[in-house]
Amino acid sequence: MAEYTKIYIRPIKRTDVNDIVWLEKEFDEYLERLSKHRRKPFSTKNHANRILKDGFGKNRAFQGFIARRGNSAIGYILYHVGYDPDEMHGRVLYIIDLFVTDGVRGLGVGSRLMKAVAVECKKIGGIDIYFGVWLKNKSAIKFYKKIGANWVKEVPFMRWDKSHWKT
Ligand SMILES: CC(C)(COP(=O)(O)OP(=O)(O)OC[C@H]1O[C@@H](n2cnc3c(N)ncnc32)[C@H](O)[C@@H]1OP(=O)(O)O)[C@@H](O)C(=O)NCCC(=O)NCCS
Repeated sequence: MAEYTKIYIRPIKRTDVNDIVWLEKEFDEYLERLSKHRRKPFSTKNHANRILKDGFGKNRAFQGFIARRGNSAIGYILYHVGYDPDEMHGRVLYIIDLFVTDGVRGLGVGSRLMKAVAVECKKIGGIDIYFGVWLKNKSAIKFYKKIGANWVKEVPFMRWDKSHWKT
């Protein structure tokens, strides 16, 4: 594809689902290389169903933006809205996935996807954007630092998985 073809970013649509799944698959392979361990087999069908069910409609659990150049999907970001009752008392956004395909990294696509989420956060009166990053993912950490993100040192995440719920 010609280098000069314009890159654009817009909210995800149902018709993007297959493209998002292929990008997710590439992301999964990237994480597998980082971990040096085999991950669960990636099911494109399951991922497509999950995105359709949870990413669209009245009861959606997340929203997102996709980056395209011509007909090709080159990156995506998924996020959901939350609320912080402490300190600032306000809405916050949580980013749950950010990926830019290998061949176009370093062209500003990742920062534009982050900015699209920041614009959305501002629109709903939000005050902060949170995301987790794997400590092994040094390259992503450098990117997040470059755009001005900082570690939340005092509040590491805990997880309570369903095997302990006794419900
Ligand atoms: C992390 C990622 C989204 C960054 O996207 P990108 O489109 O390459 O980033 P950008 O081109 O917008 O870079 C923005 C700035 O960060 C810098 N940057 C990006 N990656 C960097 C890296 N690995 N090391 C140092 N600086 C980096 C860029 O040089 C740029 O700086 P500049 O503004 O001075 O030019 C992309 O590399 C990616 O998808 N990685 C694999 C998946 C991943 O790790 N996702 C995050 C999971 S938490």
